[in-house]
Formats: sequence, C-alpha cells, structure tokens
Amino acid sequence: MNETNRPGLVRRLLRALFSPSARWSVFALLLVGLVVGAGSVIGTQVAVAVSGTDEFCGTTCHSHEKFVYPEHKLSLHYANRTGVRPACVDCHVPHSYPAELIVKARAGATDAYAELRGTIATQAKFDHERWRLANIVWDEMRANNSANCRTCHNPAAMDAMKQSEDAVSQHKKFAAGKATCIDCHTGVAHKNPEPPKEIEKAAQASK
Ligand code: HEC
Ligand code: HEC
Ligand code: HEC
Repeated sequence: MNETNRPGLVRRLLRALFSPSARWSVFALLLVGLVVGAGSVIGTQVAVAVSGTDEFCGTTCHSHEKFVYPEHKLSLHYANRTGVRPACVDCHVPHSYPAELIVKARAGATDAYAELRGTIATQAKFDHERWRLANIVWDEMRANNSANCRTCHNPAAMDAMKQSEDAVSQHKKFAAGKATCIDCHTGVAHKNPEPPKEIEKAAQASK
C-alpha cells in the first residue's frame, strides 16, 4: 500500500466529522448533543460554586490566607448587627453571565500565575503591591458605578431619617451622578491601602 497517497490524520478526522453519519440515527446524535451540553452547563455551575466560596478565595492561595482573609474578618462586612456577610465574590465578581465566567477565568489565570511567582508572598511584598491592586479594584468599581456594592445597598431604599446629616448630603452626590459609592467608601472590607509616597514619608518620619 502506498502510504504517501493516504490522507493525513487531520484531514481524515475532518472528513469523518463533516460527512453525514450512516450508523447513528438523528435521535442518537441529538441525545449525545443534549448530554454533552447539559454536562458542560452543570460542570460550569459546579466549578463556579466551588471556586466562589470564601474558603476557596480566602485560603487556596497562601497570600490571601495570610494577609487578605484575616483583614476581611476584622471588617464590618464580615460580622455586623444584621448578620449579612458579603462573600469575596459578592464584591469582586460580576453578578451576571457571561461577565462572571470571563472575570473568573481571567482572575484564575493571572492570580494563579502571580501566586506561583510569589508576587505578594511576604508582608513587605504585599504592602508594596496593594496600592496597585486596590487601584485595579477601584477603577473597575468606578467604571461600573459600584455595581457590586449596589447588589446589596440600594440608595433608593436608604432611610434618610436614619442616616447622619453628613451621609444624606453626601449621598445626594450619588443621586446626581457626581460620585459613586467607591469614590467615598474605600477600605470597607480591607485596610485602606496607602499610596506608596505616604508609605515612604511614614518610613522617613519614623527614622
Ligand atoms: C452582600 C451584601 C453587601 C455588599 C455586596 C456590600 N455591602 Fe456594605 N454592608 C452590608 C451590610 C450587611 C452592612 C452592615 C449593615 C449594618 O449592620 O449596619 C454594610 C455596611 C456598609 C457601610 C457602613 C459602614 C459603617 O461603618 O457603618 C458602608 C459604607 C458600606 N457597607 C459600603 C459598601 C461598599 C462601598 C460596597 C462595595 C464595595 C459594599 N458595601 C458591598 C452589605 C453589603
Ligand atoms: C460623595 C461621597 C459619598 C458617596 C458617593 C456615597 N457615600 Fe455613603 N456615606 C458618605 C458619608 C460622608 C457617610 C457618613 C459617614 C459617617 O457618618 O461616618 C456615608 C454613610 C454611608 C453608610 C452608613 C449609613 C449610616 O448612617 O449608618 C452607608 C451604608 C453608605 N454610606 C453606603 C453608600 C453606598 C452603598 C453608596 C453608593 C450607592 C454610597 N454610600 C455613596 C459619603 C458617600
Ligand atoms: C464589601 C466588599 C468586599 C469584600 C467582601 C471583599 N473585598 Fe476585596 N476589595 C474590596 C475593595 C473595595 C477593594 C479595593 C481596596 C479597598 O478599598 O479596600 C478590595 C481589594 C482587594 C484586594 C487588593 C489588595 C488590597 O487589600 O487592597 C484583594 C487581593 C482582595 N480585595 C481580595 C479579597 C478576598 C480574597 C476577599 C474575601 C476573603 C475579599 N477581597 C472580600 C471589596 C471587598
């Protein structure tokens, strides 16, 4: 047999894929399609749920277990009067498809790579990087009008009688579209990071 005249593997595979099936009924093919489709939908949902717990986000990576999660635990967004506890994903991952999957896939890849490289593996490295990291979060929140905050906090549901005068007058800026939650409320789940210059100044002053 002349080997050189045989079509290559890729070409044979493509031909098999695109020629009508003689062996399988349309029903069987539909069934396979349905099972594979349902399998991927359920698989994605399970993956999103498993990778969306505070346990996963807060302890899978050494850096988050050591520096990030403990700070969250000290904040009002961990334990409060009403017992509503926002999870990491409530603030950090979009609440709609497909944005949720895209952000999770992107963050999963970049964060895993940074963790392997040890970008924020020590307290000093974390302190050095957190201003940059916080700014990424702030930029996102400014761009989407603090959408994640507003999944829980609805300005229309705020009772002005129960808020301080300061809060009420400042919140008018939100209604007027002049500012968004994150412009005024930073550091609500972590320590408010300081800009690098301030850190340097503080270091100089303590010498
Ligand atoms: C899962 C729901 C949820 C999300 C998401 C959420 N919060 Fe809250 N927030 C709460 C709860 C619950 C409290 C505490 C209410 C109480 O008991 O007084 C609170 C309290 C606050 C307070 C009051 C702090 C104080 O000292 O009294 C501010 C300000 C605030 N949140 C801002 C934000 C901002 C900004 C975001 C987005 C980055 C955000 N929240 C996201 C639920 C949420
Ligand atoms: C222009 C600045 C500004 C913006 C924008 C803003 N806030 Fe505030 N907010 C304040 C100030 C100032 C206070 C009062 C702080 C205090 O009394 O300690 C406050 C108080 C609060 C409180 C506590 C209320 C209380 O009396 O216990 C919550 C919750 C809150 N803001 C949530 C939000 C959310 C959610 C958004 C976005 C929808 C938002 N704020 C937008 C400035 C702002
Ligand atoms: C209530 C909303 C909220 C919750 C809950 C929350 N974060 Fe954040 N996170 C923020 C905001 C806002 C910033 C930007 C910096 C700031 O203002 O504190 C931030 C910043 C960060 C940063 C950048 C470094 C830094 O400290 O600024 C990391 C990493 C992070 N969050 C991870 C987490 C993880 C992991 C959890 C859960 C254990 C979590 N966050 C829970 C709102 C939240």
